[in-house]
Amino acid sequence: MDQLKSKVAPADGKLAVLLPGMGAVATTFIAGVEAIKAGLAKPIGSLTQMAHIRLGKRSEKRWSMIKDFVPLAKLEDLVFGGWDPIPDDAYTAAAKAKVLSPEHLAQLKPALEKIKPMTAVFEQAYVKKLNGPNVKKGTSKMDLADQLMADIKNFKSTNGCDRLIAVWCGSTEVYRKPTDVHMSLDKFEAGLKASHDDIAPSQIYAYACLKMGVPYANGAPNLSLDTPALLELARKQGLPITGKDFKTGQTLMKTILAPGFKARMLGLEGWYSTNILGNRDGEVLDDPESFKSKEVSKLGVIDSILQPDLYPELYGNISHVVRINYYPPRGDNKEGWDNIDIVGWLGYPMQIKVNFLCRDSILAAPIVLDLALFMDFAHRAGMSGIQEWLSFYWKSPMTPEGLYPEHDLFIQLMKLKNTLRYTKGDELITHLGAEYYD
Ligand SMILES: NC(=O)c1ccc[n+]([C@@H]2O[C@H](COP(=O)([O-])OP(=O)(O)OC[C@H]3O[C@@H](n4cnc5c(N)ncnc54)[C@H](O)[C@@H]3O)[C@@H](O)[C@H]2O)c1
Repeated sequence: MDQLKSKVAPADGKLAVLLPGMGAVATTFIAGVEAIKAGLAKPIGSLTQMAHIRLGKRSEKRWSMIKDFVPLAKLEDLVFGGWDPIPDDAYTAAAKAKVLSPEHLAQLKPALEKIKPMTAVFEQAYVKKLNGPNVKKGTSKMDLADQLMADIKNFKSTNGCDRLIAVWCGSTEVYRKPTDVHMSLDKFEAGLKASHDDIAPSQIYAYACLKMGVPYANGAPNLSLDTPALLELARKQGLPITGKDFKTGQTLMKTILAPGFKARMLGLEGWYSTNILGNRDGEVLDDPESFKSKEVSKLGVIDSILQPDLYPELYGNISHVVRINYYPPRGDNKEGWDNIDIVGWLGYPMQIKVNFLCRDSILAAPIVLDLALFMDFAHRAGMSGIQEWLSFYWKSPMTPEGLYPEHDLFIQLMKLKNTLRYTKGDELITHLGAEYYD
């Protein structure tokens, strides 16, 4: 532990946060950081900015802010950049996304309008409902990756950044399983040169970032870097990676409620979830192939929390349905309904209804901030490969082959905080508590 502690380099200098995809989530994140820096708002929803961590025994009453406990980049040191096929600057994109009020945005206009997206790597076969002019042309997918690498190098030097990290905030691509071209780095690079159809734009970004030494997080549910080839590249480069799919509205609720039912050994017969939303993400998800990526990411949660193999009488026959309906009048203000059929003592049925009127990007923005800061920290701490301690933020956390993901929000939080304690050589907290009774 002491060895790891001595390895964490300080967070000196500027940190570039690169965002492939500068729509609702990305611009709400950037606008939020600017608002916080200007003293106009509080960083609500962000662990790195607001949460404390307990140190030592309960009787010691020692708490520290997470941001004081581990060396994280300061908000003042963040520089934002990104790519998007739609050429709008961050102010225009945020205004169109209608997450933040015009009055709120007007105060942030000078900072936001300076941020213009670089030309994107885009292929409509992967996001059918979208079309934009701000797109790179290339002789091959490898050529496009080289152009992204040139962008990254240029961004770093133009903005005087010391370090960079990337968080994919682009649209959800169509559902694809990995194929032979994703099975090793050699095959993937040959595929890039041959412009293989199975290599998605998001994978070209992930490849370019990792090649340039930039840690990478994937906020969407599509595969992106969750392939043997890109895992191999991350390992080779000694870089942390994390994903997939920001855990925000309905799935956040599921990972709060389902562990509670299981803790009390209450049965579950069915969980019906439906959503209406009207932002661009909703429009993209209206395409069945993009929705399939989302559905797969959302459905895994309940099974892995409830462990039907261990508890067949309680959870062996659950009907779990997830629907997303594109409904323009709602914009980013999603409404989710959950009907949960639970079972109690002697098999008596009960129902719970959850009606969550949430704001998708308001919930996602602090996650982007935390991921950016924690991934930069992980890199400085010499952590590489899949960062399972960041599962807290994901609907569909990446894990090594053969290991099931941990979805329970409270176990995820314990793991996150223990990882931070570990990096400092601090005592891990198991909650055993026996020492208080010796
Ligand atoms: N908001 C949430 O609560 C939430 C939760 C989980 C996951 N997500 C995921 O986050 C992503 C962003 O969501 P959003 O609401 O900001 O969507 P959005 O549609 O407002 O923004 C996505 C942006 O990505 C751009 N884009 C598409 N393909 C691109 C490419 N190849 N390169 C660069 N840019 C590209 C689009 O032009 C668009 O501006 C989506 O994949 C969404 O599913 C969002």
